[in-house]
Amino acid sequence: MPPITVVIFLLLVKLELGNCAKPNVLLIIVDDLKPSLRCFGDRNAYTPNIDRLSEKSFVFRNVFAQQALCAPSRNSLLTSRRPNSLHLYDFYSYWRSTVGNFTTIPQYFRENGYHTYSIGKVFHPGKSSNFTDDYPYSWSTPTFHPKTEQFMNSPVCVDQNGSLVKNLICPVIIESQPDGTLPDIESLNEAVRYLEYRRNATKPYFLAVGFHKPHVPFKFPFKYLDYHPIKNVSLPTNKDRPSSLPLVAWNPWTDIRLRHDIELLNVSFPFGPMPDHMSRKIIQAYNAATTYVDDLIGQLLVHVDPNTIVILTADHGWSRGEHGEFSKFSNYDEATKVPLIIHVPGLSTGEIISDALVELVDLFPTLVDLTQVAESLPICSKLVDEIACTEGRSLAPYMACKKMGKVARQKSAVFTQYPRPGVQPTLHPNSDKPHLKDIKIMGYSIRTNAYRYTEWVKFDPQTYKPNWKKVYAKELYSHIFDKKEDLNLAERPEMEDVMKHLHRRLKLGWRHA
Ligand SMILES: *[C@@H]1O[C@H](CO)[C@@H](O)[C@H](O)[C@H]1NC(C)=O
Ligand SMILES: *[C@@H]1O[C@H](CO)[C@@H](O)[C@H](O)[C@H]1NC(C)=O
Ligand SMILES: *[C@@H]1O[C@H](CO)[C@@H](O)[C@H](O)[C@H]1NC(C)=O
Ligand SMILES: *[C@@H]1O[C@H](CO)[C@@H](O)[C@H](O)[C@H]1NC(C)=O
Ligand SMILES: *[C@@H]1O[C@H](CO)[C@@H](O)[C@H](O)[C@H]1NC(C)=O
Ligand SMILES: *[C@@H]1O[C@H](CO)[C@@H](O)[C@H](O)[C@H]1NC(C)=O
Repeated sequence: MPPITVVIFLLLVKLELGNCAKPNVLLIIVDDLKPSLRCFGDRNAYTPNIDRLSEKSFVFRNVFAQQALCAPSRNSLLTSRRPNSLHLYDFYSYWRSTVGNFTTIPQYFRENGYHTYSIGKVFHPGKSSNFTDDYPYSWSTPTFHPKTEQFMNSPVCVDQNGSLVKNLICPVIIESQPDGTLPDIESLNEAVRYLEYRRNATKPYFLAVGFHKPHVPFKFPFKYLDYHPIKNVSLPTNKDRPSSLPLVAWNPWTDIRLRHDIELLNVSFPFGPMPDHMSRKIIQAYNAATTYVDDLIGQLLVHVDPNTIVILTADHGWSRGEHGEFSKFSNYDEATKVPLIIHVPGLSTGEIISDALVELVDLFPTLVDLTQVAESLPICSKLVDEIACTEGRSLAPYMACKKMGKVARQKSAVFTQYPRPGVQPTLHPNSDKPHLKDIKIMGYSIRTNAYRYTEWVKFDPQTYKPNWKKVYAKELYSHIFDKKEDLNLAERPEMEDVMKHLHRRLKLGWRHA
């Protein structure tokens, strides 16, 4: 029996949305978007459209992905199961063929009377979604992928000499691009077409739109640079690799080294450093690509029916030079923290800010509660016995309390993990994103309001089990004194008790948080 506040809240949802019409759902997933938005306090961001959405939404400022890599994070978010349960830490397995026939968020809606459709990058394409984005299970019709995404890695960026190259930083003139457009613009057009086509439909819709930017390469229309003059870009205060950072935790951002403009810099492997002038350009380009996506989101929201729950989030973050890194591939807040905005028509009339600890696995049960398409999802008891269950917790009770100004219960900890093929950063195998067979070490991380604690332990890729007795490195950061996670306190004798306590909680896992 849910608490009385929740019952009242859900009644309010029902009244607001009308008794017969189920709300539509629009899920927007932005690739590699950290909370670098004006509405999340980033003063260098220019994101007026997302800011406007946030003004009538629940804004969650402490939300974490379960692994800072696209496929594991997306499958985890969409099934509400953790990488450990999906046995997916790379790009190369499909849960229905390996671990169980688990239900996804869109599948749940489809099976409960919704028309479901995916545009752009929602599931990670390829093996991890069986080369179909999990169609037909998740989606009512085959998914839409922008045609021009095939040029993602083509030489389409103009360099200083006027030739076409594969750059990391790639502002473009749209008309000069192959097919005269860009993938996210194609996705926007398709989403607008779909929303107009659904306008008179009797079935509610669940539409997921996955924008590709600001994922690298930073390919976006030139004009968005105007909002981010280079002289206004400041470097992070923690731009150097922390001396106390264990080797195994370091990711050498191999993917961007292969880009022409970065290759020219002859940055040494694995530690760099990136020259300051290029760091500035990278930050500028990330911000400009974010403004570009913000603009598209603004154009999309104009077409959304008022009776629609809108969620905006990301698969993970991206380090823009913090700790000397330019990538995801780690357990740091920079890589694992994501924005989460939830607009519930009629209820989130003003901005409601939350600093509660939240995980992306919480989204599935939250949406089930908010739309009341069916009973609440049960918590998964065993790994394989339940087809539709959750490893997260619904935010609906929390949102109800927040809305009514009551004290709200929240999680005491959240969990992330990251695999490595060895202690040293390597190109072969690529230590930034090892294949399952090469994984020898797993970095398990617990984040509370006060600390982040990570243990890098031996991992067996055949049994998917850690060996907690074989520890390669430990990291402890105080979020009271060191929000940027610069100072590893793991070697301090006075922290021993804290570490023992966090070690125990890390091993106990999410069920006890
Ligand atoms: C998996 O679930 C889907 C949807 O419920 C069902 O159609 C399919 O038969 C199931 N497959 C197996 C192997 O159980
Ligand atoms: C995955 O795709 C293959 C090839 O199209 C197909 O044979 C198989 O049934 C699919 N798996 C599931 C679980 O649907
Ligand atoms: C431009 O061309 C010159 C001479 O070929 C070369 O040295 C330089 O690296 C090129 N610049 C870029 C940005 O590719
Ligand atoms: C929806 O209904 C309106 C009013 O009946 C009509 O003008 C419009 O063409 C319809 N739109 C679609 C996409 O069918
Ligand atoms: C850049 O910085 C200057 C000086 O701080 C400020 O006046 C200006 O508004 C900034 N420009 C943008 C586009 O943010
Ligand atoms: C690149 O760096 C390596 C070692 O850091 C150095 O030996 C080599 O000469 C450099 N190459 C160029 C073209 O600067």
